[in-house]
Amino acid sequence: MTPTPQDAPRDVTPYQTSSFWISLALFITTALLSFGKAYRWFDIRFRIGNYFVTHWLAWIGTVFIAVYTPLYYVVKRRRPRWMKTLIPTHMFGNIISFAFISMHLAQQLTRPAQFPPDLGTGVALFIVMLTLVITGFLHRFRIIASLVPHQNRFLHISVTSAFYIVIIIHILQGIGTL
Ligand code: HEM
Ligand code: HEM
Repeated sequence: MTPTPQDAPRDVTPYQTSSFWISLALFITTALLSFGKAYRWFDIRFRIGNYFVTHWLAWIGTVFIAVYTPLYYVVKRRRPRWMKTLIPTHMFGNIISFAFISMHLAQQLTRPAQFPPDLGTGVALFIVMLTLVITGFLHRFRIIASLVPHQNRFLHISVTSAFYIVIIIHILQGIGTL
Protein backbone atom coordinates (compact mmCIF):
# COMPACT_ATOMS: atom_id res chain seq x y z
CA MET A 1 0.00 0.00 0.00
CA THR A 2 1.21 3.53 -0.71
CA PRO A 3 2.60 5.13 2.47
CA THR A 4 0.75 8.01 4.11
CA PRO A 5 2.54 11.15 5.39
CA GLN A 6 2.07 10.00 9.00
CA ASP A 7 3.88 6.69 8.65
CA ALA A 8 6.11 7.59 5.71
CA PRO A 9 9.88 7.79 6.10
CA ARG A 10 11.19 11.38 6.09
CA ASP A 11 12.39 11.19 2.46
CA VAL A 12 8.83 10.54 1.18
CA THR A 13 7.08 13.83 0.34
CA PRO A 14 3.28 14.26 0.35
CA TYR A 15 3.47 14.40 -3.46
CA GLN A 16 4.48 10.73 -3.46
CA THR A 17 1.40 9.57 -1.56
CA SER A 18 -1.84 8.50 -3.19
CA SER A 19 -4.01 10.18 -0.51
CA PHE A 20 -2.52 13.60 -1.42
CA TRP A 21 -3.39 13.20 -5.11
CA ILE A 22 -6.87 11.78 -4.37
CA SER A 23 -7.61 14.73 -2.02
CA LEU A 24 -6.33 17.25 -4.58
CA ALA A 25 -8.37 15.61 -7.37
CA LEU A 26 -11.51 15.73 -5.17
CA PHE A 27 -10.87 19.38 -4.36
CA ILE A 28 -10.40 20.35 -8.05
CA THR A 29 -13.49 18.30 -9.02
CA THR A 30 -15.49 20.18 -6.38
CA ALA A 31 -14.42 23.54 -7.83
CA LEU A 32 -15.24 22.41 -11.40
CA LEU A 33 -18.65 21.01 -10.39
CA SER A 34 -19.50 24.23 -8.50
CA PHE A 35 -18.57 26.45 -11.45
CA GLY A 36 -20.36 24.04 -13.81
CA LYS A 37 -23.51 24.23 -11.72
CA ALA A 38 -23.28 28.02 -11.35
CA TYR A 39 -22.62 28.64 -15.09
CA ARG A 40 -25.14 25.95 -16.15
CA TRP A 41 -22.70 23.67 -17.97
CA PHE A 42 -25.06 20.93 -16.70
CA ASP A 43 -28.35 20.90 -14.86
CA ILE A 44 -29.12 18.88 -11.75
CA ARG A 45 -32.24 20.82 -10.81
CA PHE A 46 -34.77 18.06 -10.14
CA ARG A 47 -36.81 17.13 -7.09
CA ILE A 48 -36.57 14.09 -4.85
CA GLY A 49 -39.74 14.14 -2.77
CA ASN A 50 -40.49 17.69 -1.69
CA TYR A 51 -36.97 19.07 -2.12
CA PHE A 52 -34.49 19.80 -4.90
CA VAL A 53 -31.50 17.47 -5.13
CA THR A 54 -29.07 20.25 -4.10
CA HIS A 55 -31.06 20.69 -0.88
CA TRP A 56 -30.65 16.96 -0.10
CA LEU A 57 -26.92 17.19 -0.88
CA ALA A 58 -26.63 20.04 1.66
CA TRP A 59 -28.35 17.85 4.26
CA ILE A 60 -26.15 14.79 3.53
CA GLY A 61 -22.90 16.82 3.70
CA THR A 62 -23.95 18.66 6.84
CA VAL A 63 -25.16 15.54 8.68
CA PHE A 64 -21.95 13.64 7.84
CA ILE A 65 -19.73 16.45 9.19
CA ALA A 66 -21.92 17.10 12.24
CA VAL A 67 -22.05 13.40 13.24
CA TYR A 68 -18.63 12.08 12.17
CA THR A 69 -16.57 14.89 13.79
CA PRO A 70 -17.47 14.08 17.44
CA LEU A 71 -17.45 10.36 16.59
CA TYR A 72 -13.89 10.67 15.26
CA TYR A 73 -12.84 12.62 18.36
CA VAL A 74 -14.11 9.90 20.73
CA VAL A 75 -13.24 6.74 18.75
CA LYS A 76 -9.72 8.02 17.98
CA ARG A 77 -8.97 8.10 21.72
CA ARG A 78 -10.75 4.85 22.64
CA ARG A 79 -9.56 2.80 19.65
CA PRO A 80 -6.19 4.25 18.52
CA ARG A 81 -5.61 1.13 16.38
CA TRP A 82 -8.46 2.23 14.09
CA MET A 83 -6.62 5.41 13.04
CA LYS A 84 -5.76 3.98 9.61
CA THR A 85 -9.49 3.88 8.84
CA LEU A 86 -10.56 6.91 10.87
CA ILE A 87 -8.20 9.44 9.25
CA PRO A 88 -9.01 8.65 5.57
CA THR A 89 -12.73 8.62 6.43
CA HIS A 90 -12.26 12.03 8.09
CA MET A 91 -10.37 13.47 5.11
CA PHE A 92 -12.27 12.01 2.17
CA GLY A 93 -15.67 12.04 3.91
CA ASN A 94 -15.28 15.73 4.74
CA ILE A 95 -13.99 16.69 1.29
CA ILE A 96 -16.92 14.86 -0.36
CA SER A 97 -19.34 16.55 2.09
CA PHE A 98 -17.75 19.88 1.14
CA ALA A 99 -18.37 19.03 -2.55
CA PHE A 100 -22.06 18.29 -1.80
CA ILE A 101 -22.41 21.54 0.15
CA SER A 102 -20.73 23.47 -2.69
CA MET A 103 -23.51 22.29 -5.04
CA HIS A 104 -26.02 23.85 -2.63
CA LEU A 105 -23.96 27.06 -2.52
CA ALA A 106 -23.78 27.24 -6.34
CA GLN A 107 -27.54 26.63 -6.54
CA GLN A 108 -28.32 29.35 -4.00
CA LEU A 109 -25.98 31.99 -5.44
CA THR A 110 -27.39 31.59 -8.95
CA ARG A 111 -31.10 31.73 -8.08
CA PRO A 112 -33.28 33.69 -10.54
CA ALA A 113 -33.24 37.48 -10.03
CA GLN A 114 -36.92 37.38 -8.96
CA PHE A 115 -36.05 35.10 -5.99
CA PRO A 116 -32.62 36.25 -4.77
CA PRO A 117 -31.13 34.48 -1.74
CA ASP A 118 -31.01 36.39 1.53
CA LEU A 119 -27.20 36.25 1.89
CA GLY A 120 -25.97 35.87 5.46
CA THR A 121 -25.35 32.75 7.55
CA GLY A 122 -24.82 30.59 4.44
CA VAL A 123 -21.92 32.71 3.23
CA ALA A 124 -20.35 32.68 6.73
CA LEU A 125 -20.75 28.88 6.79
CA PHE A 126 -19.07 28.48 3.44
CA ILE A 127 -16.06 30.51 4.61
CA VAL A 128 -15.90 28.25 7.69
CA MET A 129 -16.05 25.12 5.48
CA LEU A 130 -13.33 26.40 3.16
CA THR A 131 -11.09 27.22 6.15
CA LEU A 132 -11.64 23.72 7.55
CA VAL A 133 -10.76 22.01 4.29
CA ILE A 134 -7.67 24.18 3.64
CA THR A 135 -6.29 23.93 7.20
CA GLY A 136 -7.05 20.18 7.24
CA PHE A 137 -5.23 19.76 3.94
CA LEU A 138 -2.22 21.81 5.09
CA HIS A 139 -2.07 19.95 8.41
CA ARG A 140 -2.29 16.52 6.85
CA PHE A 141 0.21 17.02 4.06
CA ARG A 142 2.55 19.61 5.64
CA ILE A 143 2.79 21.45 2.29
CA ILE A 144 4.08 24.71 3.81
CA ALA A 145 7.19 23.76 5.72
CA SER A 146 7.25 27.02 7.74
CA LEU A 147 3.66 26.59 8.98
CA VAL A 148 3.68 25.71 12.70
CA PRO A 149 1.64 22.44 12.84
CA HIS A 150 0.08 22.93 16.28
CA GLN A 151 -1.05 26.49 15.44
CA ASN A 152 -2.64 25.33 12.19
CA ARG A 153 -4.25 22.41 14.07
CA PHE A 154 -5.58 24.86 16.66
CA LEU A 155 -7.20 26.92 13.89
CA HIS A 156 -8.62 23.75 12.28
CA ILE A 157 -10.21 22.60 15.54
CA SER A 158 -11.44 26.02 16.74
CA VAL A 159 -13.17 26.78 13.42
CA THR A 160 -15.12 23.54 13.96
CA SER A 161 -17.10 25.26 16.77
CA ALA A 162 -18.03 28.06 14.35
CA PHE A 163 -19.46 25.38 12.03
CA TYR A 164 -21.76 24.02 14.77
CA ILE A 165 -22.94 27.46 15.95
CA VAL A 166 -23.67 28.89 12.49
CA ILE A 167 -25.20 25.72 10.98
CA ILE A 168 -27.86 25.62 13.72
CA ILE A 169 -28.89 29.22 12.96
CA HIS A 170 -28.75 28.58 9.19
CA ILE A 171 -30.99 25.48 9.46
CA LEU A 172 -33.46 27.27 11.75
CA GLN A 173 -33.62 30.11 9.18
CA GLY A 174 -33.87 27.58 6.32
CA ILE A 175 -36.84 25.75 7.84
CA GLY A 176 -38.48 29.06 8.73
CA THR A 177 -38.22 28.79 12.55
CA LEU A 178 -36.10 31.98 12.87
C1 HEM B 1 -22.27 23.94 5.63
C2 HEM B 1 -23.46 23.80 5.08
C3 HEM B 1 -24.20 24.87 4.29
C4 HEM B 1 -23.73 25.97 3.60
C5 HEM B 1 -22.28 26.42 3.40
C6 HEM B 1 -24.88 26.67 3.06
C7 HEM B 1 -24.82 27.81 2.27
C8 HEM B 1 -25.92 28.56 1.88
C9 HEM B 1 -25.88 29.86 1.21
C10 HEM B 1 -24.61 30.60 0.80
C11 HEM B 1 -27.15 30.27 1.03
C12 HEM B 1 -27.60 31.62 0.43
C13 HEM B 1 -28.23 32.47 1.55
C14 HEM B 1 -27.31 32.75 2.70
O1 HEM B 1 -26.19 33.27 2.52
O2 HEM B 1 -27.67 32.43 3.85
C15 HEM B 1 -28.02 29.24 1.56
C16 HEM B 1 -29.39 29.29 1.55
C17 HEM B 1 -30.21 28.31 2.03
N1 HEM B 1 -29.82 27.15 2.68
FE1 HEM B 1 -27.94 26.58 3.05
N2 HEM B 1 -26.02 25.99 3.43
C18 HEM B 1 -25.65 24.88 4.17
C19 HEM B 1 -26.46 23.91 4.73
C20 HEM B 1 -27.85 23.94 4.65
C21 HEM B 1 -28.72 22.97 5.23
C22 HEM B 1 -28.31 21.72 6.02
C23 HEM B 1 -29.99 23.35 4.95
C24 HEM B 1 -31.24 22.62 5.38
C25 HEM B 1 -32.25 23.24 5.95
C26 HEM B 1 -29.93 24.59 4.19
C27 HEM B 1 -31.00 25.29 3.71
C28 HEM B 1 -30.97 26.47 3.04
C29 HEM B 1 -32.14 27.21 2.58
C30 HEM B 1 -33.60 26.80 2.75
C31 HEM B 1 -31.66 28.35 1.94
C32 HEM B 1 -32.49 29.46 1.28
C33 HEM B 1 -32.60 30.64 2.23
C34 HEM B 1 -33.32 31.80 1.58
O3 HEM B 1 -34.53 31.82 1.65
O4 HEM B 1 -32.63 32.65 0.99
N3 HEM B 1 -28.60 24.91 4.03
N4 HEM B 1 -27.24 28.21 2.07
C1 HEM C 1 -14.68 19.95 6.69
C2 HEM C 1 -14.92 19.60 7.91
C3 HEM C 1 -13.88 19.22 8.95
C4 HEM C 1 -14.08 19.26 10.30
C5 HEM C 1 -15.36 19.74 11.00
C6 HEM C 1 -12.87 18.81 10.93
C7 HEM C 1 -12.68 18.72 12.30
C8 HEM C 1 -11.57 18.22 12.94
C9 HEM C 1 -11.40 18.07 14.36
C10 HEM C 1 -12.41 18.49 15.43
C11 HEM C 1 -10.18 17.54 14.58
C12 HEM C 1 -9.54 17.21 15.94
C13 HEM C 1 -9.76 15.77 16.27
C14 HEM C 1 -9.04 15.37 17.53
O1 HEM C 1 -8.13 16.02 18.00
O2 HEM C 1 -9.41 14.34 18.07
C15 HEM C 1 -9.56 17.34 13.29
C16 HEM C 1 -8.30 16.82 13.10
C17 HEM C 1 -7.72 16.68 11.88
N1 HEM C 1 -8.27 16.92 10.64
FE1 HEM C 1 -10.10 17.70 10.30
N2 HEM C 1 -11.94 18.48 9.96
C18 HEM C 1 -12.51 18.71 8.72
C19 HEM C 1 -11.92 18.51 7.49
C20 HEM C 1 -10.66 18.00 7.29
C21 HEM C 1 -10.04 17.75 6.00
C22 HEM C 1 -10.73 18.01 4.65
C23 HEM C 1 -8.79 17.24 6.25
C24 HEM C 1 -7.69 16.83 5.30
C25 HEM C 1 -7.70 16.91 4.00
C26 HEM C 1 -8.62 17.16 7.68
C27 HEM C 1 -7.50 16.71 8.33
C28 HEM C 1 -7.35 16.62 9.68
C29 HEM C 1 -6.13 16.14 10.33
C30 HEM C 1 -4.86 15.70 9.63
C31 HEM C 1 -6.38 16.19 11.70
C32 HEM C 1 -5.38 15.82 12.82
C33 HEM C 1 -5.50 14.37 13.04
C34 HEM C 1 -5.29 14.10 14.47
O3 HEM C 1 -4.31 14.56 15.05
O4 HEM C 1 -6.17 13.41 15.01
N3 HEM C 1 -9.77 17.63 8.28
N4 HEM C 1 -10.43 17.75 12.30
